[in-house]
Amino acid sequence: MPDSSEPSPALRERVQFLRETIDHHNYAYHVLNAPEIDDATFDALFRELKSLEEQWPELKTPWSPTLRIGGGLLPGLAKQAHRSRMYSLDNVFSYEEWDAFLDKMRRAFADNGALPEGFWCDPKLDGLAVELVYEDGILTTALTRGDGEVGEVVTEGARTIRTVPLRLMGKGPFPAYLAVRGETILTKEDFARINEENRARGKKILANPRNAAAGTLRLLDTSAVRAKNLRFFAYGIGEADYKDVQPPETYADLMALLQGYGFETPPRGSFCPTSKDVKNYAESVREMRESFAMEIDGCVVKLNNLSAAKALGYTARAPRFAVAIKYPAQAVETRLLAIEIQVGRTGVLTPVAILEPVAIQGAMVSRATLHNSEEIAERDIRVGDYVTVRRAGDVIPEVIGPNRDKRGPDTKPFEFPKTCPVCGEPVFREKDEVAFRCENVSCPAIRERSIEYFVSKAGLDITGFGEKWVEQLVASGRVTQPADLFSLTIDDFLSFKHMGPLLARKCLDALARAKSEATLERFITALGIRHVGLGTARALAKKYSDVDALAEATEAELTEIPDVGPIVAASIRNFFALKTNRDLLSRFKECGLWPVRKTEEKEAQAGGLSGKTILFTGALSMKRKLAEQYAEQLGAIPVSAVSRSLGLLVVGEKPGSKLAKARALGIQTCTEEEFLAMLRESGIAL
Ligand code: IVH
Repeated sequence: MPDSSEPSPALRERVQFLRETIDHHNYAYHVLNAPEIDDATFDALFRELKSLEEQWPELKTPWSPTLRIGGGLLPGLAKQAHRSRMYSLDNVFSYEEWDAFLDKMRRAFADNGALPEGFWCDPKLDGLAVELVYEDGILTTALTRGDGEVGEVVTEGARTIRTVPLRLMGKGPFPAYLAVRGETILTKEDFARINEENRARGKKILANPRNAAAGTLRLLDTSAVRAKNLRFFAYGIGEADYKDVQPPETYADLMALLQGYGFETPPRGSFCPTSKDVKNYAESVREMRESFAMEIDGCVVKLNNLSAAKALGYTARAPRFAVAIKYPAQAVETRLLAIEIQVGRTGVLTPVAILEPVAIQGAMVSRATLHNSEEIAERDIRVGDYVTVRRAGDVIPEVIGPNRDKRGPDTKPFEFPKTCPVCGEPVFREKDEVAFRCENVSCPAIRERSIEYFVSKAGLDITGFGEKWVEQLVASGRVTQPADLFSLTIDDFLSFKHMGPLLARKCLDALARAKSEATLERFITALGIRHVGLGTARALAKKYSDVDALAEATEAELTEIPDVGPIVAASIRNFFALKTNRDLLSRFKECGLWPVRKTEEKEAQAGGLSGKTILFTGALSMKRKLAEQYAEQLGAIPVSAVSRSLGLLVVGEKPGSKLAKARALGIQTCTEEEFLAMLRESGIAL
């Protein structure tokens, strides 16, 4: 009698047959888009495998298609380092820039002879970059890109993606280790469907397919991931130990290898022998952009010869052998439902278009700027019109103009308000200016905006103090100007909606910290003087010991400072001429918020480079000018040659003779990475 605790060989065979058959049909259905059997037959095979595996758990394997079902909650996302870093890509926005990139590749390669040209091109998919690790052909780990060095472990979620092979397809041999990299996306159709469902259920509307894909893959509930129908497209590899597999020599071979392993690769990937072919390719993809199932924001060009690509290597940020050609912003038409007038910090009235929500380059847009009253009048934009809206990168969407052919009979030209929509006072327009302004210093909108600005990242950067609280503080009348913030008590906070004792404490601590840590430059910025941003404030803080000294400066004196022209100087004078502003300053002084210029010694501690000369050599990841500007923020003085008095030499890639000379003179050197770390430590935003 057969031992019933052991699966019979026939059973083993059946399970293996089911697994392979299901894998095959999964691939035919999801990757090839050419199903060979109907859904019911597929489901029957699937159910049979599932029940056999439940009955005989020892027959389960880590690559069984039943693992794709998902289910259960993951215990939070762990982090793991990529074996080799996942770089980002540099962008070019025109064919001239592409030519320049190609020239740079040729020059960088010149030491090795002539660059072997020929490129692999594919569309740039707008999703979430993921690395799938296969060990001896079996999927063991999936990581998000994370910060490039360390990603989040999303193995369970990735397993539910039907186009991710759980085991590499084919007979093998397989690489001992293969990190397959690609983009996880939602198709436009699936994205729209999810938003429809969310709308119907009163849930949040997702901004774009990229965020939706990212959010979905990181969902801890893997059956929810499966339901969302994510797809993975392989576009390259990271670390690989090919063992008995012949390593590919070209990008085209690599893509064929990945396809052979069962991966989907970006649609319409193609080999382009010359730079001209690359341009033709990019144009043809751009023309077809709408017809792709997923969002495409450009195409990616990669050097086809993999050993040449390896020789070119990477800058600190991106490969030297690949680049993204980005497409210009897309415009769409939608209905203009209303025009709302916003009052800004400086009293400027800005018209905002309220639109029938529409997806542009994958993002849902329901508001856009109309710039000013003249733009509206010149283009004759009317409420009720169909208007063209454009979104360029991360820039705020804008209304370009109306479609007159579709204009209804009862639309009227837009009349810009003559009074402030918030306080009702008349609005004014200065000569030579296009903007109307509310000049009422006690207009609640202006007050609220200036307090918001004061606490924002651009101002004192008081963390944990968002617009929500400012709105409530102003509405309660407890705060009418920024200095009032510093006399708030815990009871003031506790009287607000959604505020508990812990949060109230946090807000008070944040204010106390801001008071003691505020630097003079940040304080000057936070005052919100027109035309004075952080850059100008820095220059002013170098020259004046405190705001009193600045208040006394004459226009002539101010214009001597680099970057301060007559307009900025006049604006500074006007600010201090107003009594309300001088009163505000006394209030700051009274409550103890009065930063003074750092002493030289303190600056040295802060920057470590104060007063030292600095020189850059070799290729840097950023423009040299920018690096020098950063160095100046640390108090260093950029110079152009090595001398005995040089304080620090920052060494980029392929340094020239300067490094040898500096070494000979015993001058301190550091790498670009170390320089960037110094900047970060000093709180300089990169
Ligand atoms: S190749 C070393 N190809 O774009 C080569 N990347 O903005 C690096 N991306 O992080 C990537 N579509 O996640 C490549 N067809 C494609 C791509 C693609 C989308 C992503 C990728 C990268 C990001 C950079």
